[in-house]
Amino acid sequence: MAALQLLIHAPGAPGLRWFGLGPGLRPTRGLWKLQRLFNKHAFWAQGRTKAQLRRLLAGSSVVVSLWQGKRLVGFGRASSDGIYRSVLWDVVVAGDLHGLGLGRRVVEALLAAPALRGVERIYLMTTNSAGFYEQLGFRVAAPQALLVKPGAGEAPGFRETSGLSDAPG
Ligand SMILES: CC(C)(COP(=O)(O)OP(=O)(O)OC[C@H]1O[C@@H](n2cnc3c(N)ncnc32)[C@H](O)[C@@H]1OP(=O)(O)O)[C@@H](O)C(=O)NCCC(=O)NCCS
Repeated sequence: MAALQLLIHAPGAPGLRWFGLGPGLRPTRGLWKLQRLFNKHAFWAQGRTKAQLRRLLAGSSVVVSLWQGKRLVGFGRASSDGIYRSVLWDVVVAGDLHGLGLGRRVVEALLAAPALRGVERIYLMTTNSAGFYEQLGFRVAAPQALLVKPGAGEAPGFRETSGLSDAPG
């Protein structure tokens, strides 16, 4: 198996966003690979266009990608105000590599990033991976209610297929 490489991108991931840069800052069609990773392995993030992915990256405080050679095998991102609140989003590992500690590496890299390191509270939403996050120090916030208002950008059919659930997200 080719060596794994974890990339901590600059805020907004400009290299990945504009030039598809991967390991070694080499162009590797990274945006297309991110689109494919989401389409194949992230049920909540399917059908996103490259233009939408560019905006998603531009709006992210922290972006982490995990590569096996030229293959994009993991991804995660976070938004943060740098002091009080952060949220993890879109944490995913390619299905054939589950259970090898890669998801843990992605989340730990997000949590260690300067934009998240000192914040008061870190949130995430998950449909079926609570156990994974509990192993990383997260706790189910039972007394808190999660409220969702569909925005104008919501994809048609999203509520029906997802039960309005979200994931990191
Ligand atoms: C959730 C996900 C990111 C975990 O990545 P991973 O690389 O398989 O996880 P790791 O190998 O780092 O697992 C770390 C630990 O969490 C456990 N774990 C992993 N997924 C779990 C899950 N869904 N529920 C409970 N525990 C889980 C592992 O068994 C492991 O425990 P161990 O250290 O005792 O062996 C990955 O399964 C994934 O991409 N799933 C599809 C997309 C998804 O659902 N993402 C989460 C958003 S809701």
